[in-house]
Amino acid sequence: MKIRRCAVLFIEPREDLGIDWTALFSGAGALSASLRWVALAPHLDRETTIDAAQVAALGTIGQTAWIDRQDADGRLGAAMVDSLLALGLLLDDGPAENPARERDTVLRAQHWRPLSAAAHMFSRWDGMEVDKGMHFPSFEELVQAYGTPPPPAIGRGDPDQAIKLPRPASGPLDAQLLQRYTGRNYDPEAVLPLDVLARLLQRTFGAQAERMLAQEAMVFKKTSPSAGGLHPTEAYVLAQRVPGVTPGLYHYHALNHALEPLAALDPAEASELARQFVADQHWFVDAPVMVVMAARVARNFWKYRNHAKAHRALMLDAGHLSQTFYLLATEAGMPGFVTAAVNEKAIERAFGLDPLSDAVVAVCGCGVAGAGQTTLELRYEQ
Ligand SMILES: Cc1cc2nc3c(=O)[nH]c(=O)nc-3n(C[C@H](O)[C@H](O)[C@H](O)COP(=O)(O)O)c2cc1C
Repeated sequence: MKIRRCAVLFIEPREDLGIDWTALFSGAGALSASLRWVALAPHLDRETTIDAAQVAALGTIGQTAWIDRQDADGRLGAAMVDSLLALGLLLDDGPAENPARERDTVLRAQHWRPLSAAAHMFSRWDGMEVDKGMHFPSFEELVQAYGTPPPPAIGRGDPDQAIKLPRPASGPLDAQLLQRYTGRNYDPEAVLPLDVLARLLQRTFGAQAERMLAQEAMVFKKTSPSAGGLHPTEAYVLAQRVPGVTPGLYHYHALNHALEPLAALDPAEASELARQFVADQHWFVDAPVMVVMAARVARNFWKYRNHAKAHRALMLDAGHLSQTFYLLATEAGMPGFVTAAVNEKAIERAFGLDPLSDAVVAVCGCGVAGAGQTTLELRYEQ
């Protein structure tokens, strides 16, 4: 049998802080700190504590060439090799089913940059409730805790040399740019008309034109820019209240301009999923529609393989799309929102997405504004 190390592995000397109660009661320093080695292997999707001998052993086996297990046993001892195989940090080429090896194969096939894969896989949330679990603080509380924030604008260079610019002329985009705001008080009864949803989706995520740039290399022209022109961001829709659309989960087909049904939900289920998606940010849950932006990483990484900037490009792509979405919502007379504080794992389960190949980046949504303003908004007219 042959073995090799998993494709991506980072090992962190993790410091765990705690209260040392014995020391506290004897009047000594109360803070206790302990160190352990944590293996971060994105194909496993879990952190693994290992010991120093395992760290050293992992450092002697490469991730590319398969080597004879017997050789490794001779150098490291069979028990050590067994322990690392059991953890999924070493992989064998045996005939038996091996979920860790299968996930490693998926990871290798995407061409992830190792640091990006780790950052993506280990920053995903499950069951997070920002208000309860993490408490979303007000600006007053933040100032109390952290003092005055850095100023909103700064000067650089000699101020006497600064060239005062003319006032911006009015332009047709102003109507949307100057009305756009993040809505946090949606009317829980209001629906999103189908034609409004159709325009929002098509003009944000839809193909406006097709270009065959090489044989078997088609790109779409969209209203937002995209790294390499590849447009890897897919739109997954959670519809709560759209006349003509059964509440449920859909994928938006960028070329066919169609909602592809994935699961029907009753209204209570749809609302509960919305709450989970946005990590219990209740101020977004009543939006009649949410759109999950998830990057098909292989589409971008096809060109930018193992590339230091590729993951950043995925984030930027979604940011552009969300602004386009906001402006279209504004045009329709509605506020929109975008949030990165999302439970990626709940979204992956709901839509059947594999985080190694379909990276959930953010959730946006929109809807009719409710009467009051219970949760803070920054509207222009205030
Ligand atoms: C990347 C990103 C993440 C955001 N995440 C959240 C969020 O988790 N919760 C929220 O209420 N607003 C979120 N927002 C909205 C911002 O809070 C909002 O844009 C900001 O307060 C300025 O208000 P405005 O959009 O009305 O101008 C996010 C915006 C961006 C661009």
